Amino acid sequence: MQREWMTITVHERIAEDTYQMVLKGETAEAEIQPGQFLHIHIGDAFYLRRPISIADVDPVAGTMTILYKVLGDGTEALTKKQPGDRIDVLGPGGNGFPVDNLQIDRALLIGGGIGVPPLYYLARQLKAQGIEVTAVLGFQNKESVFFEEAFSQIGDVHVTTNDGSYGHHGFVTDLLPGLKGTFDTYFSCGPSIMLKAVSTALKDESGYISIEERMGCGIGACFACVVPCAEEDEKGYRKICSDGPVFRPEEVVL
Ligand code: FES
Repeated sequence: MQREWMTITVHERIAEDTYQMVLKGETAEAEIQPGQFLHIHIGDAFYLRRPISIADVDPVAGTMTILYKVLGDGTEALTKKQPGDRIDVLGPGGNGFPVDNLQIDRALLIGGGIGVPPLYYLARQLKAQGIEVTAVLGFQNKESVFFEEAFSQIGDVHVTTNDGSYGHHGFVTDLLPGLKGTFDTYFSCGPSIMLKAVSTALKDESGYISIEERMGCGIGACFACVVPCAEEDEKGYRKICSDGPVFRPEEVVL
């Protein structure tokens, strides 16, 4: 994890309340696992940094892409940053999805809302290893959908919307029974309620989940991001920022 003032090279709205930002700097040349995050200082008016998942990395160009959704004053302030501005970034943080030594042929990626971006970088890494990728992406409505085209360059994509305005009307979990037997391992990122439903529906499958949570320090020092662990051990909890955000579903209690 390093601290750097990275330069914004692209900053654009790509869906409802959803912005894509490309950052240039040495951090992009680090070894980065899909699922890791950047911890971004928005400005002096905002004491806490905001954790934002890494959606893509181009180590040759020295750039990385992040996506965020406007959820409050901090992310609203972030929308005002312009290309050419520099922002204070700590990263890459946390432990991401394991992509080395995966002994699998087929992967199912299940993302919900702003949990979709880290799965894109994961999908690219899996495809580079010859692993077949199927993605199920869930959004609130048609205006919120993004990355469908990007995922379709990698494998099969299924889109769901809660209100039925685009794709399948319903939730990502509606499609899971029909996909059983088509993958070896699943990888999921999204709100905890979705991760709980996914891991319950796929309880007999091998998988990984990435938990989205508000954070404080982002480096394991403040206990703001604790989640109970399923197995009895001397700690009884895991820190999402430093033990995760990626876990085995059987490791934590959502
Ligand atoms: Fe401080 Fe995780 S955010 S311990």
